[in-house]
Amino acid sequence: MCGIVGYVGKRPIVNTLLNGLKRLEYRGYDSAGIAILKESQIKVIKRTGKVDALREAVDKVSFSQNENELSIGIAHTRWATHGAPTEKNAHPHLDEKGNFALVHNGIIENYASLKEHLIGKGHKFVSETDTEVIVHLISELYEGDFLKAVAASLKQLSGTYGIAVISKAHPDTIIAARKGSPIIIGVGNDEMIVASDVSALISYTRKVIYLDDGDIAVLRAEEVDIRNIDIIPVTRELAHIDWDANAAEKGGYEHFMIKEIFEQPEAITNGTRGRLNFEDGSSVLSGLGYSSRELASISNVIIAACGTSYNAGLVGEYYFEDIADLPTEVAQAAEFRYRNPIIRPDTLVLAISQSGETADTLAAVREGKNKGAVVAGICNIVGSTIARETGVGVYLHAGPEIGVASTKAFTCQVIVLLMMALKLGRAKRFSRQRGIEIIEEIIKTPDIVREVLKRAKDIQKIAKKYAKAENAFYIGRGYLYPVALEGALKLKEISYIHAEGYHAAELKHGPIALLEERVPVIALANDIPGKDKMISNIQECKARKSPIIATATEGDTEIASMVNDVIWIPKCSQFIAPIPTVVALQLFSYYVAKERGCSIDQPRNLAKSVTVE
Ligand code: AGP
Repeated sequence: MCGIVGYVGKRPIVNTLLNGLKRLEYRGYDSAGIAILKESQIKVIKRTGKVDALREAVDKVSFSQNENELSIGIAHTRWATHGAPTEKNAHPHLDEKGNFALVHNGIIENYASLKEHLIGKGHKFVSETDTEVIVHLISELYEGDFLKAVAASLKQLSGTYGIAVISKAHPDTIIAARKGSPIIIGVGNDEMIVASDVSALISYTRKVIYLDDGDIAVLRAEEVDIRNIDIIPVTRELAHIDWDANAAEKGGYEHFMIKEIFEQPEAITNGTRGRLNFEDGSSVLSGLGYSSRELASISNVIIAACGTSYNAGLVGEYYFEDIADLPTEVAQAAEFRYRNPIIRPDTLVLAISQSGETADTLAAVREGKNKGAVVAGICNIVGSTIARETGVGVYLHAGPEIGVASTKAFTCQVIVLLMMALKLGRAKRFSRQRGIEIIEEIIKTPDIVREVLKRAKDIQKIAKKYAKAENAFYIGRGYLYPVALEGALKLKEISYIHAEGYHAAELKHGPIALLEERVPVIALANDIPGKDKMISNIQECKARKSPIIATATEGDTEIASMVNDVIWIPKCSQFIAPIPTVVALQLFSYYVAKERGCSIDQPRNLAKSVTVE
């Protein structure tokens, strides 16, 4: 999510680090900082906002560097997870003696207990981040051996990390390590650059080493020494990167959208990490901030959102009704304040917004507050306006979404809504056993999505076949009804094909008049409640000569025999089915748009964040 760069060699350190950060800026941009080690001092400069703001601040300080002098430093651009995007929370973080500086990507789940322990030992913390505990821990465990102190500290962490650390006492060394968050070493001639992403190092070298989880790399200008967490040497291959800088930013993918589609298993893992409680069959959503008693007293839910977030809200409606026993309404955020919604003091108004900046959703939050509702948000961007104004809520932890068409935000919104319904349900009548069953399914979800992604080529073939269509219908029932809406939205926004999503039963109340052989129907016919009736709806469409593309549960020969093309979805319950099914539809839209030569990441007339009414 955030970006890391570190350098040891003889290049001008400030420019090398800042240029690297600039290439990572697309990953996170709420604040940035650098730490440079010179004459036994670590100099840190941080700024909120973009890398240019940091460059401006750095330009005002003189970092003299003689030719051929060894230079060393680390830098970071942040996408906030723990703590608001402020200068104090920006990386690099120092231990209190200023002996070590560290940058970190990932989430440390046990930071609260470690922090308490370190405070007990006299450490003073200055930020709200989970990261700061790592650098304090290293300084606490340091007895003269840098590597040993880092390894011993990492052993105490649970969660994920990609880190780079420098130490005053070791002015020629950067230590980098990885668990769950990528770290790549660029190997140059008498120089090493470490980064979280190849795009930051590609202009310096094309020879790279990808660290594996559990690896710790000790970098000096002329050598890299890789160990495991027990400090035993390990060998990692040297790879050659032949992407250009643009492709590197997209991780080798052609567009951000397809990269983000493929990131979904990881995004879901990040969004659920540390939030599932097997013991209670419930979820841990500390940002919600309400006690079980307060949650149990909520009488109804109004979800307010726009576009894709609205469609995720519709899935949430099913969850809240089925799991939390709560009457739920999904409101178009744009209309919310112009209606007279019935809001009681025990009504939960839940605003869903990836960007956290959508003007209409923000207005709904203010309206809910004015009317005295309990208000909460589900946002991706930490510190965004909606996140701040709601004050309580759940972050997606999906990582930055650059493609205008929302993909991983939708699946993460759905999984957060499921966890939220679980928490509300467990505060009421939902049994522990059923809660555990849902948690087991949530845990399997990233792998289920991976299975769909493996079929991208099959989906591409189907997409090519229908890429010339000018109209299409998506139909679904039950939990797949909102997915039909989302599938149609995705297709129209990036391929400019006119597509409509309908409840399968609604089709015959009007739109069926439009069906004919040039109008494909995408029928969501997975084997979940509603499938039997969907079979009749498919027959109705076939009778009007529409070609049918169905999503179906693996091995369902009954569906396969009645449709033109099938996209197979692994078996899963109705609670999870919206996720792999929408991933298949995202791929379908992407490949159709690609075939039509559309501008996929920046479709015409659309903006990533709609801040006007
Ligand atoms: C989705 O692909 C769209 N680009 C759009 O519908 C988007 O979901 C909508 O504008 C809401 O944005 P938000 O989630 O940032 O509030």
